[in-house]
Amino acid sequence: MTPMAIPTPPADRLLDPGPDLTDLVDRLVQPELAHRRLYTDPGLFELEMTRLFGPSWAYLAHDSEVPDAGDFVLRRLGRRQVLVVRGRDGVVRGLLNRCTHRGTTLVTEDRGCAKRFTCPYHGWGFDLDGRLAGLPVPDSYDRLHERPFDLGQVVLEDHRGFWFGTLAAEPMPLADWLGPALPWLDAHIDRHPGGKLKVLPTPVKQDYAGNWKLAWDNAADGLHATFAHRSYNLLGKQAETQTVLARNPAHTPMISRTLGHGHCVVDQRPGIPQGAWATMRPMPTCEALAASLTERAPDRRDWLDLATGNMVNLSLFPNLIFVGNQMMVVEPLAVDRSRLHFFLVLAEAAPEEVNLMRLRVDEDFVSFGTPDDLAMFERVQQGLAVPEEEWIDISRGDGAGDAIDDHGLVTGDIATEAPIRAYLAEWKRLMARPVPTRIRRSRVEAAVTRSRHAKEA
Ligand code: FES
Ligand SMILES: [Fe+2]
Repeated sequence: MTPMAIPTPPADRLLDPGPDLTDLVDRLVQPELAHRRLYTDPGLFELEMTRLFGPSWAYLAHDSEVPDAGDFVLRRLGRRQVLVVRGRDGVVRGLLNRCTHRGTTLVTEDRGCAKRFTCPYHGWGFDLDGRLAGLPVPDSYDRLHERPFDLGQVVLEDHRGFWFGTLAAEPMPLADWLGPALPWLDAHIDRHPGGKLKVLPTPVKQDYAGNWKLAWDNAADGLHATFAHRSYNLLGKQAETQTVLARNPAHTPMISRTLGHGHCVVDQRPGIPQGAWATMRPMPTCEALAASLTERAPDRRDWLDLATGNMVNLSLFPNLIFVGNQMMVVEPLAVDRSRLHFFLVLAEAAPEEVNLMRLRVDEDFVSFGTPDDLAMFERVQQGLAVPEEEWIDISRGDGAGDAIDDHGLVTGDIATEAPIRAYLAEWKRLMARPVPTRIRRSRVEAAVTRSRHAKEA
């Protein structure tokens, strides 16, 4: 008897072949208003997981987290678990943490080093490059060669060690997606001697009972710190500075700028010509470390500034926010549940004191300031439960003080809500229509996509 052909799953597919939602998203996000459903509607959240996370680029990992062959970190692209792993050939790949047999996750640890990934359910083994490399009981699997059982891959592309991933069938080059945010990212990298950053792969994690976009609304909100972080300000007399903690941040030289594709930046440096170090308040061991540095190199004031936050908050929509020296990754869990990951970053080529001080500085705001933010996010989520109050106001700065360049990019004082309006415009663009996504399966296909983008960049 001739065996039936095994059907091959289609390579190109729309996960969400649903309707064109242009009208709906236009109604939900109006020029100076956003509807509460953006934060409370489980259906919209599900769409975000396929229309936004997946088709768009999103940050996954830094090269320094996987220095050697077999090193991996487990990350998320929306709800998809992605193993960012360095292969024996030195190439970093984004493998879906999903066995191609019946779907089991291969890895549960946040990070580690592996020779191969073996599924705990029926023992299928996968090589570091995703290839199906071994079946413990191979009998009766004689048709496997007809179907691609290598692990699925997302397209990865890096900018100077920062790895981003996408599942778009035809992704735009990473450099285009970064666009005007690219020089800001470069400036952040170049702040570190030799351009060398070391991202520690053990983030502090903080959960809150609210929608993931609340963290995004807050990313460039230069107004809230004066009020929401009042206790932190009093602790360090930060209100005396011209930073985001000033009494009236809208009346300082600091700027807020939108950078396209939902990205934005808040630059506090014009408010502190005396340098970042001047904003430091006393912290355990920092005085001794600063004294040691100053004694060794009295003219290296820049080392002290390097130990301090860089006073630039760069946000790359939809999931990466540089907060001072740290990197904050926003992970959506459910429509009303989110997780923030705070990664500590060291300047690899700087003196040891600089990095020890960075550890102190980094734990400071996360401990004494971030809880204020999370409390606000949860209270907003609770307030948005009132169905009859449908709208939130995002009008501040619009048409009153904001400057708009020929490309539509906005510069304003740091209390403007232009960054919220800008990322919601990108949200609308992505949510309006489904975009084809595609899992890369073979090593060759993923490599071809990578090199094509390298050339285009
Ligand atoms: S589900 Fe992985 S081997 Fe069966
Ligand atoms: Fe805050």
